[in-house]
Amino acid sequence: MNGKERIVSALNLEPVDRTPVWFMRQAGRHLPEYRKLASEHNFWERCKDIDLCTKITLQPINRYKSIDAAIIFSDILTPLPALGYEVEYGGGIRIDDFNFSDIDSWSDFSARKHAPWAADGLKAIGEENDEIARLGFVGCPWTTAMYLIAGGTGDKEFHETRAKVFSQSENAKRLLAKLAESVGCLLADQVNYGGADAVQMFDTWAGLLSTKDYSEFAMPATKRAIEVFREKSNRQVPLIHYAKGSGHLHNQIRSLDIDALSLDWRDDLRWNRENFGDKIAMQGNLDPSRMHGSPASAKIAARNVLKQAGDDPGYIFNLGHGFAPGAKIECVEAVLREITGE
Ligand code: CP3
Repeated sequence: MNGKERIVSALNLEPVDRTPVWFMRQAGRHLPEYRKLASEHNFWERCKDIDLCTKITLQPINRYKSIDAAIIFSDILTPLPALGYEVEYGGGIRIDDFNFSDIDSWSDFSARKHAPWAADGLKAIGEENDEIARLGFVGCPWTTAMYLIAGGTGDKEFHETRAKVFSQSENAKRLLAKLAESVGCLLADQVNYGGADAVQMFDTWAGLLSTKDYSEFAMPATKRAIEVFREKSNRQVPLIHYAKGSGHLHNQIRSLDIDALSLDWRDDLRWNRENFGDKIAMQGNLDPSRMHGSPASAKIAARNVLKQAGDDPGYIFNLGHGFAPGAKIECVEAVLREITGE
């Protein structure tokens, strides 16, 4: 089997010849070849220039050889400029000021017209790489809204930001509903134009919410984004959902129209596989900090994750959250050797 077949089969709960693997945030700062390009071109250039975007997306594939999927180099905040907010990257993120009253004057979002880069990159990669799965992605409305309201990465646990949401709840729901339309379109474009084989939604900050607040604020918007995605997609493509630290929300998340659940490292992979593995594919969940120690200990940790995942179909190896910049290449190599048996 090639990487694409492995990933797609696992997402469809079908048998594979070996455990498929890719890593969240694999295209990025832990790679010296990425850091070199990053020192020469700013973040937006890296996303918008098809050659650069393609090159960066393929860097981890070319370096490690046995990774089965390429996630397109982009960011969850790329739809924001089209809505009127410049996003500046570099030592964190800075976004233009947002007010709830802005929403009324937002123009309609068209992925093709306003944020075509991820789909363009996916299409270009597909023209020469038929062996690997190509993954599109978006941020869920809740996580996107956190950064937009906060104006970037300044409000660490989003206390001020969440306070604004809770004190202006009707406005916040309007914002989330609008973002749902945009991210749903953006994801469908990556399938229709880009040819993505599967897609992932990141809800990095959903875990900050209680079950009640998740069902009131984040979940209806994610549900709507998925509906828009399914309506606008010209084919049925598997959808993976990732939310950091969201074990307490899994009952709700599993009820969404998703094909796979990407688990945080604090989630119990064995228990999730035993209880829900016949209904939904699972991805995860190596603690990313295991990539910062010795290769030998990373390998043992990977073996333990594989043991917990078991042999039933429907499993993809990944981290429980993305690589941090300090992840070591030797650890990644050791983990991959454990997975592929080479
Ligand atoms: O390899 C891949 O996974 C593809 C690329 C990718 C990026 N961002 C590139 C990026 C993906 C999938 C993302 C998703 C993303 N972006 C998430 C969800 C995943 C997660 O890690 O929780 C979130 C929350 C963001 C928002 C974001 N982007 C922040 C908070 C920052 C600044 C802080 C930081 O991590 O640097 C970014 C910038 C960003 N996006 C970088 C990269 C490689 C680093 C900036 C740089 O390289 O110059």
